[in-house]
Amino acid sequence: MEFQEFQKHYKWLTEKRLEEAVDSHIEPHLKEAMLYSLMAGGKRIRPLLVFATVEALGKDAELALPAASALEMIHTYSLIHDDLPAMDNDDLRRGKPTSHKVFGEATAILTGDALLTLAFSEIANATELDEVKRLKIIQDLAKQAGALGMVGGQQADILGEKQELSLEQLASIHSRKTGALLCSAVFAGSIVGDATENERIKLQEFARNIGIAFQICDDILDVTGETDVLGKEAGTDVLLEKKYLSKFTYVRRCERSTRRTLLSSS
Ligand code: IPE
Ligand code: IPE
Ligand code: MG
Ligand code: MG
Ligand code: MG
Repeated sequence: MEFQEFQKHYKWLTEKRLEEAVDSHIEPHLKEAMLYSLMAGGKRIRPLLVFATVEALGKDAELALPAASALEMIHTYSLIHDDLPAMDNDDLRRGKPTSHKVFGEATAILTGDALLTLAFSEIANATELDEVKRLKIIQDLAKQAGALGMVGGQQADILGEKQELSLEQLASIHSRKTGALLCSAVFAGSIVGDATENERIKLQEFARNIGIAFQICDDILDVTGETDVLGKEAGTDVLLEKKYLSKFTYVRRCERSTRRTLLSSS
């Protein structure tokens, strides 16, 4: 399957599953807020990584649908909480007003809580996967999404505001706040796709690198991108005094001064 066809098909499948997963018995205001953020769009990178991993292993990628939608639920919850006034205080997400702007802070917090727990029931109830596979995916996702992974990374990110960070500290923040969920997506794909131990280790290395690269691109786009293209307000990291790019700025400054020295000595 060509990439564009693959992307279109699996995005559609994921979005259908996300819509179906929100139970009709949920309190209407909460249900509306859950669907508002889940169906707001987004690139669906994490589900696509799950499916692509299974496909690369030559197995039926559709078996990964519960894990793929669970990853997108947790990612969406993380964005709702990331945008809250107590965190990044953003008003725009996926081209629409953020959850707390539309539904208020209390509902935005509860919507995140609801999506996080729904994600685990999606996998636990996935009868298309055997129980051992479900358990392995849940164990990994709980670790990567939690205090040792994404939540811990978000905490370190907030503590790092206004601070000069070493390259190691920055890489540690990136790999937890963003890389952890991408690793979990690839891990879920490797379990559904019956990867060998050796294949799983290589796939994890790939996922770790993608995670760091993804966040570096996000940080650069915050400076160079346009709000209407990004679907979220550009230029906000500098207002929060996040020092993500200071390392790159430093490298660029060194390059420039080296070039000047070389030119003046030639
Ligand atoms: C945004 O993630 C938050 C980061 C981890 C950088 P995405 O860039 O995947 O956001 P959506 O899902 O496409 O909106
Ligand atoms: C957020 O990183 C990572 C998450 C865990 C949500 P950012 O704060 O840079 O993401 P954006 O730029 O708001 O999408
Ligand atoms: Mg943030
Ligand atoms: Mg943010
Ligand atoms: Mg960002």
